[in-house]
Amino acid sequence: MHAGNDLILRAARGEDTPRTPVWLMRQAGRILREYRDVRARAGSFINLVKNPELVTEVTLQPVDLLGVDAAIIFSDILVVPEAMGFPYDMQESRGPVFNNTFRRREDLSRILSVEPERDLHYVLQSIRMVKRELQGRVPLIGFAGAPWTIFCYLTEGKGSKEFSVARRMAREDPELAHQLLSAISEATLRYLKAQIEAGADMVQIFDSWAGVLGPEEYRLFSLPYLEKICQGLQDSGVPVTLFAKGAHYAVGDLAALPARTIGLDWTMSIEEARGRAGTKSLQGNMDPACLYSEENAIIEETHKMLRRFGPRRYIANLGHGVYPDTDPGKVRLFVETVKGYVHETV
Ligand code: CP3
Repeated sequence: MHAGNDLILRAARGEDTPRTPVWLMRQAGRILREYRDVRARAGSFINLVKNPELVTEVTLQPVDLLGVDAAIIFSDILVVPEAMGFPYDMQESRGPVFNNTFRRREDLSRILSVEPERDLHYVLQSIRMVKRELQGRVPLIGFAGAPWTIFCYLTEGKGSKEFSVARRMAREDPELAHQLLSAISEATLRYLKAQIEAGADMVQIFDSWAGVLGPEEYRLFSLPYLEKICQGLQDSGVPVTLFAKGAHYAVGDLAALPARTIGLDWTMSIEEARGRAGTKSLQGNMDPACLYSEENAIIEETHKMLRRFGPRRYIANLGHGVYPDTDPGKVRLFVETVKGYVHETV
């Protein structure tokens, strides 16, 4: 199917690759002037996300302008809660805001059942369009938020450092929390299956707020739902990546799930993760702030990262999304440094 570059799929499956594949979380976005132009034309972030022609344009920009080894569909994790009946607003300075949050038992009756081809048609249409345009040049990554992370936004109603409203509900009314998490998981599984049917070659699940939970709570409120989703996707044969930011303690647990790749943030030890992840592939994990350094320092840090991860079962990336004010030239330097690196053969 991919006459072109399928390095990332091969690395995810644990196959040998002639070089390390590379992409960046948040590669389609504000770092590129070309993205900001399209976003201005769309009028708002949400208008952009719902317009398949414009989504196709911004999804392809990093492939053409940065030379990455994969495209990621331009969307947001919050389209799932929106389809469940909880719309969000994206505010310039504050980020996402939900006017109707999920706070009490009565809110269960407001949850809508999600039919992806009906409720998230615009994303699936965008995937089909991007696939046509890519013509197999590089694989396309689909994605969704982890149930725990979506739960955080739905209950809190906005971004937060601690997500204490979410953690409070988990403590005060765990049964209610599990009901909401189950509903999110069901919608998410359907949505990811639909993305794969539409043409996504690989999917990543973002548990961006894993780090607000302790190890025991993570095993109660996140892992079982990730497991259900991974199990539900197994028949598709499409490799799944799990990225649980801040969840050091969970690398081994995540690697035990039927996913192919575990994403690491920059605070995690590469050697320790290798020890815990067994034969699973790893992705990550350079500090996004490293791209503010001067060029020689970026090259040196990138080489160090590549050496430590080694030549196999590895997808190069940052440890979180690229910061919006990063110089695109330095992003290109990072990508080119990975692509030009030759591992020493022992
Ligand atoms: O290039 C890509 O990675 C694809 C696009 C993508 C976006 N959001 C576009 C976006 C992806 C994969 C996401 C995932 C996402 N969205 C996550 C998980 C990844 C992570 O960063 O931890 C989360 C937590 C969200 C929720 C979200 N969306 C927040 C908190 C914000 C505001 C913060 C910010 O970066 O501005 C967004 C907005 C958002 N999503 C933007 C983009 C390009 C910026 C808004 C804009 O361009 O106007």
